[in-house]
Amino acid sequence: MSEKSYRPETRLVHSGALRSQYNETSEALFLTQGFIYETAEACEARFKGEDPGFIYSRFSNPNTSMFESRMIDLEGAEAARSTATGMAAVTTAILAPLRMGDHVVAAKALFGSCRYVIEELLPRYGIEFTLVDGLDLDQWQKAMRPNTKSLFLESPTNPTLDVLDISAIADIAHAGGARLIVDNVFATPLWQSPLALGADVVVYSATKHIDGQGRCLGGIILSSKDFIDEHIHNYLRQTGPSISPFNAWTLVKGLETLAIRVERQTQTAAAIADVLAQHPKISRLIYPGREDHPQAATVKKQMRAGSTLIGFEVKGGKAAAFRVLNELKVARISNNLGDAKSLVTHPATTTHQRLPLEARLELGITEGFIRFSAGLEHRDDLIEDLEAALAKA
Ligand SMILES: Cc1ncc(COP(=O)(O)O)c(C=O)c1O
Repeated sequence: MSEKSYRPETRLVHSGALRSQYNETSEALFLTQGFIYETAEACEARFKGEDPGFIYSRFSNPNTSMFESRMIDLEGAEAARSTATGMAAVTTAILAPLRMGDHVVAAKALFGSCRYVIEELLPRYGIEFTLVDGLDLDQWQKAMRPNTKSLFLESPTNPTLDVLDISAIADIAHAGGARLIVDNVFATPLWQSPLALGADVVVYSATKHIDGQGRCLGGIILSSKDFIDEHIHNYLRQTGPSISPFNAWTLVKGLETLAIRVERQTQTAAAIADVLAQHPKISRLIYPGREDHPQAATVKKQMRAGSTLIGFEVKGGKAAAFRVLNELKVARISNNLGDAKSLVTHPATTTHQRLPLEARLELGITEGFIRFSAGLEHRDDLIEDLEAALAKA
């Protein structure tokens, strides 16, 4: 399905499907390491790139191709490469195009492992970095240097759900001759299209909403064909953080239901946020779909809807937050998100425990802060569950 005129829901079901000679309805699983060639000449042509078929599943396979094509179509990208995990996608998108002496600017509010890549990995290879308050455009501007090659951000941020102005930051990157890479995990491709907003590269942990049913890990990098050809294709092919065909197949099937899941989860999250906003035991509530979100104007400008995630701070610090987590019966304690099952996280002791206390507090990750990922359960069961747990906080 190459016609771009179909709506996202339709493309999520059909795009990129490759049918075998049996004309199966559901996409087939090509659980194979490699492929055979009828002749040595055909093999040579395949390796020379004169014949576009598959070679070896470290870098090409019908299932990874179907996953990449479906995502390309949804995201409006020219090209994509899938990876074993979201972190493989983030690390590759950041590291692969850089060389010793280059400089990266990144927002401070990042998933813990992304901060590790920027702060600890890059300097080992002679790549400099500057961390900025992603909401402050002046800081992005002032951090730019002649050797700045990439800007990196996530929006909404994990876990405090700040919404960064993607088009303004893309303008700063481009004026300085750099590229903007956006981790779009929290928004999902349904609610935000970073490439259309001016970003150059978008990355996903497909482990989250794209699978959405807690089954497998995966990641993907989407961008222009030039960026993939010049920086990503060979790096992945030679270093091998490849997704398994089985996981790529699972993610293709996940995409079929992505819209219906994310729409329902967003409605549920919005309803929960409205209830929590009035709750006497909560000192702070952050939900990108509400008028009282600190960047409500940016949300309106660049997102099509709020989020499947809610952030809230329980009065009484860590002890109160732990009591809430321990009392919940429907929502379960996890560091994961975007799942059919509602999941709650205490970021200060899990996803962001690596950061020193001051760095966590600077990001608003207090001891009482909880991240709630709305699942597919009935919203009233989730609200009753939260109200009962908060009563014990
Ligand atoms: C914003 C964000 N980026 C990247 C990742 C990494 O994804 P994965 O766990 O698939 O490696 C995660 C979660 O783990 C995340 O929340």
